[in-house]
Amino acid sequence: MTPSSSRPRVLQNLRLMPALEARLASAFDMHRLTDEADPKAFLAAHGAAFTGLVTSAAVGVDAALIDALPKLRVISSFGVGLDKLDLAAAQRRGIAVGYTPDVLNDCVADLAFGLMLDAARGLSAADRYVRRGAWLGAGTPASAPFPLGRKVSGARLGIVGLGRIGSTIARRASGFDMSVRYHNRRPVEGAPWPHEPSLLALAEWADYLVIIAAGGAGTRHLVDAEVLDALGPRGFLINVSRGSVIDEAALVRALVDKRIAGAGLDVFEHEPQVPQELLALDNVVLLPHIASGTVETRQAMADRVFDNLQLFLSEGRLVSAAPPPAG
Ligand code: DGY
Repeated sequence: MTPSSSRPRVLQNLRLMPALEARLASAFDMHRLTDEADPKAFLAAHGAAFTGLVTSAAVGVDAALIDALPKLRVISSFGVGLDKLDLAAAQRRGIAVGYTPDVLNDCVADLAFGLMLDAARGLSAADRYVRRGAWLGAGTPASAPFPLGRKVSGARLGIVGLGRIGSTIARRASGFDMSVRYHNRRPVEGAPWPHEPSLLALAEWADYLVIIAAGGAGTRHLVDAEVLDALGPRGFLINVSRGSVIDEAALVRALVDKRIAGAGLDVFEHEPQVPQELLALDNVVLLPHIASGTVETRQAMADRVFDNLQLFLSEGRLVSAAPPPAG
């Protein structure tokens, strides 16, 4: 490590966008743990030097890393998901945790609609059909015409998890003349859409079931074989939250057996691994976890990561503080 400067020392446990790394380095004495050949030995020798830590929703922070940083005061995480952050360990030490909610609502909601339209109308499959030259021979015995899709406008949209992003998705749905219902453990005060206390009943009712509930132990495999069967052969499943919310093995079986009409998936249980069986299926759209991945939104997230860190280290407060751990 470079000799100590008067600037706060901040560790990062991942590579960040170059512009964010440059901005952080202009204000703090930054160090990348991933550059260390032996991170454990590095932490044992230098862990006490750091007061800040930058991470992401995808990489997260466990209790072992928090323990290895005895002077840590603040964690600033890139992303809205908290399922990989050990909030309880941070809370026990009085460490503040900042994250980046709100700024990604629009892009995640947009992508949910992208997946709905793609799964229902077969955009990706139709693109593959054109590229392989099948359109040229359409109607001949060698090539069937591209199959008809299903209508999104006017359909029934069930939302699982009516938080900030879920509400944004619900508002988008009015532009598609969809009827909306949602499932949360409790009704959301002031929400204009009907609350459905039973997830099974919501799945039975919906043409499109969009999952945007937070990940973590409380929602693990919330969508199981029974929910998929309730959605049924005319229903589509869209997941823009966390792979863990769905029993992925049950989903693979439902798609292979066509017990649901199709799925649009931005997230998986063991990213970046995608179940092999899904790769050959045309009734599922597979994306590499890109819901917040636009230039504008990633910039806004980067700004929030910086602002959380700077505000905490200068004034002891955060722009966006993570909620306390559940339970
Ligand atoms: C988030 O912000 O939580 C995204 O899903 C990236 O993990």
